[in-house]
Amino acid sequence: MSDDPLPPSSPTPAPGRPAVRTAAVIPAAGRGVRLGPGAPKALRALGGTPMLVHAVRAMAESRAVSLVVVVAPPDGAGEVKSLLDTHALPGGSWGNTDVLVVPGGESRQESVKLGLDALPEGYDIVLVHDAARPLVPVDTVDAVVEAVRDGAPAVVPALPLADTVKQVEPAATPGEPEPVVATPDRSRLRAVQTPQGFDRATLVRAHATVTDDVTDDASMVEQLGLTVVTVPGHEEAFKVTRPLDLVLAEAVLARRRLNDGF
Ligand code: C5P
Repeated sequence: MSDDPLPPSSPTPAPGRPAVRTAAVIPAAGRGVRLGPGAPKALRALGGTPMLVHAVRAMAESRAVSLVVVVAPPDGAGEVKSLLDTHALPGGSWGNTDVLVVPGGESRQESVKLGLDALPEGYDIVLVHDAARPLVPVDTVDAVVEAVRDGAPAVVPALPLADTVKQVEPAATPGEPEPVVATPDRSRLRAVQTPQGFDRATLVRAHATVTDDVTDDASMVEQLGLTVVTVPGHEEAFKVTRPLDLVLAEAVLARRRLNDGF
């Protein structure tokens, strides 16, 4: 890992297009309480390798991404740094991608902001990718970067929903049935994933301006009044949240090993 990450822009821009560097911020500071007791979620193993390492590899696999900033649990930055060193290629590299580790905060939003604060000059596109989505395919990462390069201030990978969604009124007493108040038209709903991609200045402004609690970064850009667009998401970019997701993630890895000798 390097403390001075300004590698050459990659890939070579199309003729007439200026070189634009892309960095990825990976918030990985969550405890992962819903996954059950144990190590912080990002450090749990999938196929014998920590989830965070899969997530860093997924970003580094994109030729567009030349820096990854990992946001570690506030008291665990040293541990995360040595763990990543252990899993880097011989010589400590991640191919053409540099990796920095910074301590995170109390909320996901705060962790992303701390990652953004650590970004050196020279990166004009920023991806924000949950460590909890370790298996996102590189084509999805590239599609997000491409849409930002094409001029969108914010881009999210999105999938149609299988389930019908109900809006409820929270029950007065926890555990009591919750009254349904609305059923949004499913055909216009999307489940969004990460990496979400941004024009850097827009994301920095969003984090400086929006103070409400949010569950993703794109909604902060929406609050600025800017348009967020979608690109197709991927079923393998699901978020590992509950114990059953670990079973699914192991199955996806096993299928990849069978299909591509991964
Ligand atoms: O809790 P949730 O699943 O929404 O977390 C999404 C991502 O945000 C995870 O990768 C988690 O590690 C990260 N996170 C963080 N700092 C926090 C809470 C969550 O980096 N304080």
